[in-house]
Amino acid sequence: PSLQSLHTFSLPSNAEKIIKVTDPNQLTDIDYSIPFVVIGEGSNTLFLDDFVGQVIQIANIGIGISEDEHMYHIKAAAGENWHQLVCYTLNKGIAGFENLALIPGLCGAAPVQNIGAYGVELSDFLVSVEGFDIITGQFNTLTAEQCQLSYRDSIFKHALKQRFIITAIHLAVRKNWQPNCHYGPLQHLQEPTAQQIYDLVVQTRQTKLPDPKQVANAGSFFKNPFITAEHFVRLKTQFPDLVAFPAVDKQVKVAAGWLIDRAGLKGEKIAGIEVNPQQALVLLNHGGSGGQDVLKMIERIQHEVHTLFDIKLQHEVRLIGSQGEIIIEVNHE
Ligand code: EPU
Repeated sequence: PSLQSLHTFSLPSNAEKIIKVTDPNQLTDIDYSIPFVVIGEGSNTLFLDDFVGQVIQIANIGIGISEDEHMYHIKAAAGENWHQLVCYTLNKGIAGFENLALIPGLCGAAPVQNIGAYGVELSDFLVSVEGFDIITGQFNTLTAEQCQLSYRDSIFKHALKQRFIITAIHLAVRKNWQPNCHYGPLQHLQEPTAQQIYDLVVQTRQTKLPDPKQVANAGSFFKNPFITAEHFVRLKTQFPDLVAFPAVDKQVKVAAGWLIDRAGLKGEKIAGIEVNPQQALVLLNHGGSGGQDVLKMIERIQHEVHTLFDIKLQHEVRLIGSQGEIIIEVNHE
């Protein structure tokens, strides 16, 4: 079966088998000795080639909300769409997730890369994660701390990769909501309501990040890299308009979109793959291309950015080749 409509970058690839999971109990019947890839909406995964194995598509649904004196507690099945959850809660008068509006993908994928935008991250709300451990064959609950969330990262990309299949997430938000509008365009809002933040986030994302239904894409393609303070000072002298933010351990987080843009790659094309002219961190697939064209584009961008800024960009999207996940790194010479 074809994977083209199962991932938003929409490359013409196939899998040997696709298993749609609408009930977590189905996970106990799967043969995990066969190579497998777990997906949700496929908004952060690219199938570069025909995958020799089974694709497990998470599709269980259900949202439950409870409250106590100070907090709302929300349980969302892994197969629930994240943006729908943001809208659903906001409509019920539960504010807190508005900065994370319109982030593509499912609730179950949210902890894997600790989704974040406009100064807010899932780690601000995550309480625990339920899932199936394929090694023990048991369902298990992990606390947020055990999930080890950091910038676009978690234990699900490391020790529990290919081992723990998320089936539900538990979130908590405070009833005494405070707006978070320190980031970028939100700074201009005066005492905004959650709805106003939501509206501006949606508007901002819509101008920069194309709707995959119109042009195939997978959101931010690369992570914003962290560099040392010395490296930053060196670059800032050479490039005074460099966009960067202070980060932990005296490191500096640099805007990868700015680097790619400044390297002159905005609008660059390899076959049907284009660096988005509106936001250089996003790659577009206009069709007629295969995984090889994407690989060439990744190598091109990584090479140019490395040559010009001495920074090694890591792709943020998950790349799946014929044998499973692959990671493309800048060549060390
Ligand atoms: N910039 C440029 N040229 C470009 C792109 C960006 O100069 O072509 C500059 C912008 O002017 C801005 C800075 O780079 O000063 C940062 O750009 P932006 O605010 O668009 O955010 P980003 O760092 O590129 C990150 C997330 C997005 C998230 C936004 C908003 C990552 C990898 N990406 O992008 O998340 O929506 O911040 O908070 O951290 C995603 O992960 O898929 C995603 C879309």
